[in-house]
Parts: sequence; C-alpha cells; structure tokens
Amino acid sequence: MSSTQHNFQLRPIQAGDNLSKLSLGKESHTPLKIFLRKAALNFHQHNIAKTYVLVDDEVSARVWGYVTLMSSEIILNENQRPQEIYASSRYEAFPAVKIARLAIDKTLQGQGYGKDILEWTVTLARDKISPHIGCRFLVVDAKQDSIAFYEKAGFSLFSTEVPDEHPPMFLDLYHVT
Ligand SMILES: CC(C)(COP(=O)(O)OP(=O)(O)OC[C@H]1O[C@@H](n2cnc3c(N)ncnc32)[C@H](O)[C@@H]1OP(=O)(O)O)[C@@H](O)C(=O)NCCC(=O)NCCS
Repeated sequence: MSSTQHNFQLRPIQAGDNLSKLSLGKESHTPLKIFLRKAALNFHQHNIAKTYVLVDDEVSARVWGYVTLMSSEIILNENQRPQEIYASSRYEAFPAVKIARLAIDKTLQGQGYGKDILEWTVTLARDKISPHIGCRFLVVDAKQDSIAFYEKAGFSLFSTEVPDEHPPMFLDLYHVT
C-alpha cells in the first residue's frame, strides 16, 4: 500500500503506536477514534477483537487508518441462505468474520486505502480462516454514508424494513474469486 508520499504497511496494533493523530473529519465518527485510543490494544491483547493499523513510519508509529476484526455470525432469511448447503433450511445462523471498525484518516480518504484494506480482509477471511474454521461470510454494520463503499466491494444489505442507523451488510466469501 503505497503512494508518492507514503509507504504504508498494515500490521497488528502494538504498544507504543501513536493512536491520537487519526482524524476522521466528522463528529459522528468520534466513536471510531475513541475505540482506537482506548480499547483497540486491550481488545487485541485479550483476543476479543484484532486490530490492524496502517503505519508508514515505524519511528513515529503514527496510525493513519485501521481495521478491527472479530468472529461473529449472521442470521439470514430463506432467500439469502446458501442454497447448496445440505439441510440448509434447518440453519438460520451462519458463521462470519465481522468488520467491527474500519477507518481511514480524512487526508487519505478517496485514494483507495479503504478498498485495499477491505481486499486484504477478504483474502484473510477467505484464504486463511475459512479453509480451517467454518466461516462463510464477512459482515459489517455499515454507517449510512459508507453503504456505497461496501456495495462497490460486493456486499449486500440485509433485507430490513426498519430503517437502521447502522445497516448490517454481508459478503458471501465462498463466491468471491
Ligand atoms: C468509508 C472509508 C473506510 C472508505 O475508505 P476510502 O479509502 O476513503 O475509500 P476508497 O478510496 O478505497 O474507495 C473505494 C471505492 O469506494 C468508493 N467510495 C468510498 N467512499 C464512498 C462513499 N462514502 N460513498 C460512495 N462511494 C464511496 C470510492 O469512490 C471508490 O470507488 P472506485 O473503486 O470506483 O474508485 C473511509 O472513507 C472512512 O474511514 N470513512 C469514515 C469512517 C467510516 O465511515 N468507516 C466505515 C465504518 S463501517
């Protein structure tokens, strides 16, 4: 992940990372900043949720973006369930990896870094997790203004009639090539 000014790597969060400079530009995104500063390392160390940070300089260890992943499950309606699964009608809940948080610094938004991190996440879940532990879907509770970003990456909205501030979305990893 590189640009003319930066040479980024995505790596696990670690003690000493500079988490306080991430700027997302909107007040509604403050919880994403607070999570990174206060909870992400603790959750990471205790296997609750794993955070990977975008860093371009290991001396300053300034974090420019991050993704947080955890195990999860989704309940799909009959039309959304994988049809090829034996006795699938008996199952409502399916195993998933959840994108619990995803954020890119406002100065870097719109330059493809979110897409790169999403593709990295899909590859991790599909190639490193699914073959060893049953895991069929990638899920996210999207923010209203990030729905189009996830749709471009192939995610679908759950069919929900109730307007949801954080609409759940899913991607079937089995059909991602
Ligand atoms: C949402 C977010 C992660 C996207 O990351 P990004 O680096 O800005 O997005 P990218 O530049 O990789 O965009 C990838 C594609 O999605 C599109 N896209 C990105 N954000 C979009 C938006 N809000 N609406 C519509 N399309 C969007 C881009 O145009 C691009 O399309 P293309 O591939 O056809 O060129 C980032 O903007 C962000 O951190 N936002 C604030 C926090 C947030 O909303 N997080 C998501 C929580 S669920």
